[in-house]
Formats: sequence, structure tokens, C-alpha cells
Amino acid sequence: MTGEARGDSLSYSARLPFEEARAGAVSRLPDLSGRGRDAAGKELLMCGIVGYTGQRQASRILVEGLKRLEYRGYDSAGIAVRKDETVKEGEAPLLVIKKKGKIAELRKAVPKDLPGNYGIGHTRWATHGGVTDVNAHPHLDTAGRVAIVHNGIIENYAPLKEMLENDGAVFASDTDSEVIAHLVAYHYEGDLESAVKAALRHLKGTYGIAAVHADEPGRIVGARNGSPLVIGVGDGEMLLASDVTALLAHTTSVVYLNDGEVVSMSPREFRISDRDDRAVDPKIDLVTWKLDAIEKEGFSSYMEKEICEQPESIARALSGRMDLEYGSAKLGGLELSKKELHAIERIRVIAAGTSWHAGLVGCQLMESVARLPAQAELASELRYRNPVVEPNSLYLAVSQSGETADTLYAMREIQRRGGSVLGVCNVVGSTIARESDGGIYVHSGPEIAVASTKAFTSQLAAFYLLTLSLARLHDMSHHEGDRFLKELKAVPEAVGRSLLLRDRIQAIAKRYAHHRDFLFLGRGLLYPIALEGALKLKEISYIHAEGYASGEIKHGPIALVSPETPSVFLVPNDHLREKTISNMREIKARGGPIIALAEEGDEDVAAIADEFIPVPAVETRFQPFVMVPPLQFFSYFCALERGCDVDQPRNLAKSVTVE
Ligand code: AGP
Repeated sequence: MTGEARGDSLSYSARLPFEEARAGAVSRLPDLSGRGRDAAGKELLMCGIVGYTGQRQASRILVEGLKRLEYRGYDSAGIAVRKDETVKEGEAPLLVIKKKGKIAELRKAVPKDLPGNYGIGHTRWATHGGVTDVNAHPHLDTAGRVAIVHNGIIENYAPLKEMLENDGAVFASDTDSEVIAHLVAYHYEGDLESAVKAALRHLKGTYGIAAVHADEPGRIVGARNGSPLVIGVGDGEMLLASDVTALLAHTTSVVYLNDGEVVSMSPREFRISDRDDRAVDPKIDLVTWKLDAIEKEGFSSYMEKEICEQPESIARALSGRMDLEYGSAKLGGLELSKKELHAIERIRVIAAGTSWHAGLVGCQLMESVARLPAQAELASELRYRNPVVEPNSLYLAVSQSGETADTLYAMREIQRRGGSVLGVCNVVGSTIARESDGGIYVHSGPEIAVASTKAFTSQLAAFYLLTLSLARLHDMSHHEGDRFLKELKAVPEAVGRSLLLRDRIQAIAKRYAHHRDFLFLGRGLLYPIALEGALKLKEISYIHAEGYASGEIKHGPIALVSPETPSVFLVPNDHLREKTISNMREIKARGGPIIALAEEGDEDVAAIADEFIPVPAVETRFQPFVMVPPLQFFSYFCALERGCDVDQPRNLAKSVTVE
């Protein structure tokens, strides 16, 4: 999905084969990359990198960039800049400032007038290994001449550390990342790029790295293997980041680095080469995201803003893709001819979390509407099974970020077995987008809050379009296609109306936020929506919530029902409505409080429920769209009520780039 700006003609670049192990050996230190995983190598990092070289004050740009990346990880942060050109004898030339806590802590610690016009910065998120100032990045070598920042995991860091210590290196932190600084210093002979390449040959694991050396003013070297890096090409300045959001304030011209590539940049030029030192022709892409899309714009949080943006984001996902002439959908990025599409016999979705829930809805639709057997699989499970990749199956890797490790590795496993995988991604140029064999961008715009909201409904929109397109190749008539399109076209407006329920939901959340446990229950297309409602509540308000198919409660979960455990029912407006109402009665009879979402005017449901949330009337198969925003608001207001940080919930990161 390279550099494509909008809609229908997505161009997917050729797939770069994933290279598990790097070729070549290094001069003096033995290659230990084959050794096993060390306990401390389990440290999980889902962090942000930013680098700047140019004429402006680097520290300011780095801290600002880190602020933009904070959503990726936020337990500590730091920067390294060259103090100035005239460093006194015996003084460390690189200044590193790092602080645990939010970027605000780092900002306080960085002097406003700090000189230096190149440097690197990092936000860190750790689940293992101490959250301390010392463990924050950047890390220095013993002499303080090399500084590095690293995203990923160095699995063989322990034996490397032992060897480097035997060679005289003094380690300051407990992290795996610090070995990289010492390795670069070990190999440094006046050329940072060569030293970084030599250091990389020792490493086993994943990395996105940026490095500077005090003896090479203005130079930054970056490298990538499994952790994203993107170059920002400015006017007389260059930037490097793990995420385009850190670059948007400065440039929209970007180059995405592929696995195995190394970039060496100075203010006016950059050079990309591969592991074998062959020059790589850069492809400059234009990012179409606007800066205001990553600002809060008057909202109190990104999550609130992103929930409220859904009418527009869904409209964007649909825009230019509704084929009104033929009652079908146009999805050029699939890169499949009508004949190839027609030959598809089954669909498999691979995804995680919220994206998996979108996949569950998509699969039900494709099966019931397009009459194709379809199944959504958890990527983390599929990867370690021994999956049968049948011919004429179409795999869809669904991912907002396009960087989720579980989904990426599952996709690669399928491709390795000869299966073709299409990406359904939001982030243009992300790894899944680039490595997939075609796909659909969902165009929800940047999603900053950790809890996925608008990307989910845009993923749904993509599945509805794909369903229509497939259905029209099989049994669906032109007339039925027209009807489906008419309903789909009306979705953004209906979602807008469901957002008007906000105040009612806030009041309900106030009354229920103190409960410890919730059940979320739905049937058919609303079953995955129940799972999504439960996930949202768990992740941002830390309330235990179980999502279940309503028909399943009598098989066990009903034992949980009590006045302390409210049930949130999603009531469909079709033949399953009666059955759902019976389930509500079963709960009611056992003293369980009921919050019910049903079509406006449904008096029966309103009479049984303790709290009634009337959602706009739409055709049954489009009900997922109007049920989702109230559930998002419910989790949002429960979280606020409980004093939780809605944008940056504890223990979570936006892109889960480790397994
Ligand atoms: C969603 O609210 C979660 N933060 C999480 O489940 C997320 O959907 C999952 O990690 C998958 O992410 P992706 O869509 O970027 O692949």
C-alpha cells in the first residue's frame, strides 16, 4: 500500500521478503545471534523514536515529536543532543536527558535554550524491567560518544553484554537496548553507518534504531528490523520517526524504511542501503493526514474526539467506493480481477482485539450476504497452529496500525505457505499494508487514543463494501445491490444520530460505573459488537466485562447474574429480537440489572430494561454501526467517572509490536 493517498486505486508495493536472520559475520566479536532468549529479553517495548538533524533547535523538535508519539508508550522518555560544537576537554559531548513519567516531566527537565541542532529521542513503554530514569532511552556507550534509541527486543543481549563487559564496557542500565550503544562504539572506526551495520550483525531480535556519534555532527543513522521507521524529508533538514504523526508538523514527504534497511542522514541528504551495503532507491511518499487530525481540537481527549468523528470517518471509508451504476462496490486496491474474485471459495480473517471483532462482523456478513464460508481467526492463535492454507481461500489481515506483531507474523506464515493475504489497514505505508498482496485502506484518519473507536467502524465499512462486491459476483441482484448501497450510504448520518445519545449515556454511566462486573450480550451481528463493548469497558475503565452470545448465557454465565452484575443487552430488530427479549427476562428474574440498546420506539424492551438506550432505526444488518457509538461512550464515561486516563490506559500501547 505504498504512498497511495485515497480510495480506489491503492497501489501495493512488491513484498519485501522477511529476512529472519541477517547474513554475514562481524570482524572481532563472535556472532551470538543464534543464542536463546534471555529472561530479560522478554522486556516488552512498544515505544516511539524521533530523530532530527537540521538548522533548528533539536531539543524542542524532539520533545514535541515525542509528545506526538506518547500514545505509543509512556512510562519514560528522553533525548540526546550534541551540546554544541565546542566541547571542553574531558566533557561528554552528547547530552542525554531522560525522565520516567510522562513527556511533561522530560519537558520540565530540558532547558529551554539547550543548544544543538541534531539529536534523537524516545518514549518507552515497559512491562518488564524497571521504569527508571536510567532505563529510559537514549543509552550511551562507556565514553559517552555514541547514543542510541531502540524499539523492539534484543533477545541475545545477555551474552553480548557479558562479552562487552569483558572488553571493558561499563553498563549503566538494566535494558537489553544498551548493548547496541556499546556494540556501535566497539565497531566505530570513524564511520557511524559502518559501525551500526557491524553492530546489527550481532543482534537477534527486533529493532527500530536511531544512533548518533559525537564525532559526526549532524549525522543520524537509523535501522529497521521488525519495528517501523520512517524518514521525514524536510527543507534543509531530515527527521526520523517510528510513526508519521511525529513528522507531520514538519514535513509530509516521507520514505518508509523496509526491514533490513539502514539509513544514514544529514540535514541535506540521506542514503538508504541494505544489509549487504547495496544502495536502495528511496521512494518518497506524500502523507495526506493533516496536522489538525492529530490535535484534540477542543475535545477533552482523543478518545472523545475520535468517537465523535465517526460520521465523517465512515463517510471517508465509503467515499468513491460505492458503485451506484452497478449497485456494487469499487475496491481497486484489492488488485484482483473480477474473475479472481469470483474464484474465491472461502474467506479467512486474521486480526487481534478490536480488529478481530470487525472481522467477526465481516465474516458473518460475507457468509450470509455473499454466501461465502468465512471465519475470523485470532492472529496470535493462527500463527502457532499448523494452519491448512486451502487453494481459492482469501486471507484478510485486518489491523488499524498495520504493525501488530501477531497479525503481521500470522500473515507472513500464510504467505509462506503460498496463501495470498490482503491487508485491511488504516495506517498508510504500515508494514502489513506494504507486505500484503493488495488490500483496502479504511481511511479513518490518525487514531491516537489507545482504545480503537473510529478505526473499528471504518473497518466495518470496508467489510460492508467487500461483502457487497463479492455478493454482486454471486447471488445478489442489481436491485438488491442498490438497496444495500442505499442503506450503506445512510450509515454516516445514522451514526451521527446515535452520537446524540451521549448525554443519556453519561447519566447511565454515572449510575453504573461503580460496578465491578458486567455482561455484554448480543446475537448474530451484534454478538461481536457485544465483545467489542466488553473490550472497551475493560481496557479503559478497568471494569471486568464479559462479552457473550445471548443464547449462551444459560450455558454457564447466568450463574454470574446478581444485582451487582449488570447486563448490557444489544437487541436486534429482526427475528432474533423475541429470543433476546426472553434472555432479558431470564436475567431480570434473577435480579440482574439490565441496560438495553434497542431500536427507538421499542416499548417492550424499554419496559423490561432498567435503562433503555434507543438507537436509530436502520435495517438489521446495519445495526452494528448504530450500536457501537453508545457502547464506546459508555466505556468512556465509566472511565471518566472512575478517574481513569481514557487516552492512555494502564499497561496498554497503541501498536502492539511484540508477541
Ligand atoms: C483496541 O481498543 C485495542 N487497543 C486493541 O485490541 C487493538 O485493536 C489490537 O491491539 C489490534 O490492533 P491493530 O488493529 O492495530 O492491529
